[in-house]
Amino acid sequence: MKRIAIFASGTGSNARKIVEHLEDNKQIEVALIASNRKSAKVLDMAMKFGIDTKVITRQDFYESDRFLNTLKNIEIDWVVLAGFLWLVPSNLISSYSNRIVNIHPALLPAYGGKGMYGMNVHRAVKENKEKTSGMTIHLVNEHYDEGAIIFQGSTDIEVNDTAEDIAAKVLKLEHEYYPRVVEGLVMAQTK
Ligand code: GRF
Repeated sequence: MKRIAIFASGTGSNARKIVEHLEDNKQIEVALIASNRKSAKVLDMAMKFGIDTKVITRQDFYESDRFLNTLKNIEIDWVVLAGFLWLVPSNLISSYSNRIVNIHPALLPAYGGKGMYGMNVHRAVKENKEKTSGMTIHLVNEHYDEGAIIFQGSTDIEVNDTAEDIAAKVLKLEHEYYPRVVEGLVMAQTK
């Protein structure tokens, strides 16, 4: 059995898709959903599914090993970021080397880096009159959006698409692929 922790800052629609997808997988358990915001909707979702939750504080995350030790104590094997806006600190990166995965709502390396999150990404894509956008699933290192790319999915953009339309198309791709890619990564390690 492999145990994963999902970190999310907001709604958690990707987190939910992952939880639902993995319900049928007897070898992977979503053991924790953590958020830096105690009012994040993702925590309500976790509670509905009976998954343990934790609110991450800056002190526990950045100024000590407290949060890392929590993950170790509950034997977390993989960390899945799903709309998590804090930079992951180096103690977590080294303890979970190649076992932290993120999803980004653009075709990296384009439209990545600091400040490139949420609607900022889709507005920039729209302003540049791109003909395609998409999502990138990648491993996490100490720099925003720079770890090894594992999977990308793309979607066409029509001239009339607004930034919101682009966001909806990209989110659909995320929901379609992130659960399966996470499952594939974790299962590959259990063999
Ligand atoms: C997604 O677009 C993801 O790519 C980005 O944050 C968004 C999270 O959406 N990192 P949700 O909270 O899963 O609905």
